[in-house]
Amino acid sequence: MMKIRKVVIPAAGWGTRFLPATKALPKEMLPLADKPLIQYIVEEAILSGMEQIIIVTSSGKSAIQDHFDRDFELEYILEQKGERGLLEEVRRIADLANICYIRQKEQLGLGHAILTAEEFIGREPFAVFLPDDIFDAEVPLLKQMGEVYQRYQGSVLAVRRVAKEETKRYGIIKPKQIEERLYQVLDVVEKPEEAPSDLAILGRYILTPEIFEALKTTPPGWGGEIQLSDGLALMLQKQAVYGYEFEGEYYDAGNPLGLLKATVALALSHPQIGADFKEYLRGLSTDL
Ligand code: G1P
Repeated sequence: MMKIRKVVIPAAGWGTRFLPATKALPKEMLPLADKPLIQYIVEEAILSGMEQIIIVTSSGKSAIQDHFDRDFELEYILEQKGERGLLEEVRRIADLANICYIRQKEQLGLGHAILTAEEFIGREPFAVFLPDDIFDAEVPLLKQMGEVYQRYQGSVLAVRRVAKEETKRYGIIKPKQIEERLYQVLDVVEKPEEAPSDLAILGRYILTPEIFEALKTTPPGWGGEIQLSDGLALMLQKQAVYGYEFEGEYYDAGNPLGLLKATVALALSHPQIGADFKEYLRGLSTDL
């Protein structure tokens, strides 16, 4: 049984849902409370035991690379100002992990982005983390899903029930329940008009390397893009794929309203600003 050591983080999309904020700034660098989205994802990957992080980027995304790099000028200035805490934090971010970057030269879809990582992954199972999806879980999702992977030796998707009117925003599975919280996936439909269930795929996946073969023959689907969901639908005809209903909170940081909700939730539990923020919100609620 091979250990999952590598994670692919696709970060090459246009971020059109956040325009104009994302005209000159990668959406992965938008802040959630006091950290950019991508930092939550990288920290979660490390907590999940990942040894190698592969970020798929595109033109205009160099701020992501800079964020995880050393910045000697900034460190010098913080040192001069005696800002020890900030200096340590800035250094810690640069030392978080060894990150490889791949450039996706054309944005042909999520499935295509995953395919660009094939050479880095080789023939081993790996994880995919989508940076739009933020989780607050006692046990990181990948650890919960890894337990299923160990027992069933197939790809595992994080799933969760969503309201009927929300199903058209996600990849939706057709499930066959095999245990509490665990389903065999019989089909996957990306952003369906007629959903096969209310179980949506949220952005954490454990994939076997057979996904690459499937993605190579996946035709463009929803939005004219090569969809990971369609690749999964092809793969599950040859190899079982599982959906695991994870335990934990989920925040959709992929659109402005979702990002605001996530900001409120995470700011409320923030060790430094949480208490003051709660006080402020209490004051507001009487005016609303
Ligand atoms: C992507 C996937 C979709 C999944 C969703 C989770 O869609 O294509 O299957 O349900 O992430 O957030 P996107 O949000 O990029 O449109």
